Amino acid sequence: MRIGVLTGGGDCPGLNAVIRAIVRKGVERYGHEFVGYRDGWRGPLEGDSAPLGVPEVRGILPRGGTILGASRTNPFKEDGGAERVAEGMAAAGVDGLIAIGGEDTLGAASRLYSEHGLPVVGVPKTIDNDLGATDYTFGFDTAVNVAMEAIDRLHTTAGSHHRVLIAEVMGRHAGWIAFHAGLAGGANVILIPERPFDLERVCELVGRRFESHFAPIVVVAEGAQPAGGMPEAQDEGLDEFGHVRLGGIAHWLEGEVERRTGKEARATVLGHVQRGGTPTAFDRVLATRFGLHAIDAVNAGRWGTMTALRGTEIELVQLSEATAELKTVPAELYEEAEVFFG
Ligand code: F6P
Repeated sequence: MRIGVLTGGGDCPGLNAVIRAIVRKGVERYGHEFVGYRDGWRGPLEGDSAPLGVPEVRGILPRGGTILGASRTNPFKEDGGAERVAEGMAAAGVDGLIAIGGEDTLGAASRLYSEHGLPVVGVPKTIDNDLGATDYTFGFDTAVNVAMEAIDRLHTTAGSHHRVLIAEVMGRHAGWIAFHAGLAGGANVILIPERPFDLERVCELVGRRFESHFAPIVVVAEGAQPAGGMPEAQDEGLDEFGHVRLGGIAHWLEGEVERRTGKEARATVLGHVQRGGTPTAFDRVLATRFGLHAIDAVNAGRWGTMTALRGTEIELVQLSEATAELKTVPAELYEEAEVFFG
């Protein structure tokens, strides 16, 4: 078989580990051939691909990013996009596709399979960990570790200067990175999108932390909002899938906290640092296992499925299930962490 591989959406640590596992097992165990499509769905849409063999995947396990490139191109936003993908695959003699991506990439994969009968297998990735069908996505653990390390560093400088330091982390509309990094890093306040916050309460917790002669660290998810919403709407812009670009809440909080508490507050926006660089061991292993199971699924003709972590097992679930529900932080879990606030 000749199989196309693409990485769509935002990149994340572990993508290269998946590609390597797919190619190594696909070539060595099953005798398949591979083509690497460049920049997510743009590759098959425009017929932009390169051969992908064992030599191309040597040495890439620890490398961040993706050797294939990534983009947020959406085939369903392009004129005749689905047909162009199908025709391009047929012309290049590609028998099936492995799409590695998050909600958007897998949503497109699911539609290409169910509405156009294209042979696709999905692999879930995102630092946001917000895909309902899998317990964890790779990339998340690395992002949490990067954020935790930053929080550890913020604690010492906050203490020296008696400041409130506010760390803004990614995660889109899910608070997983903020919750895990905040808990691991001993944050004094964790603000997540799932639970609109009360600014007065945040300031109270900040004040309480200063009473203990330690300085407070606030971890805020980029999608978090005060109860009642932000007073002024921000011009955030939209990506190809119609998602608003989030970010900026930490700077807003900086001003509000400083004004209300009289304490100096400073924002640190971690941004794409969370998505770059080498994956943790957990992410390398998860990504590798996803890759090995994805190529098994292709070999068995299990089109329209996606690899998922359930407990410690890798299972195949329907692609449609992957994007059916956004996985958010449950209230009970958040409440467990509240004992450490203030
Ligand atoms: O989905 C991953 C993610 O990093 C989100 O946490 C973040 O909101 C978004 O992508 C940023 O996307 P971009 O790099 O396209 O601005």
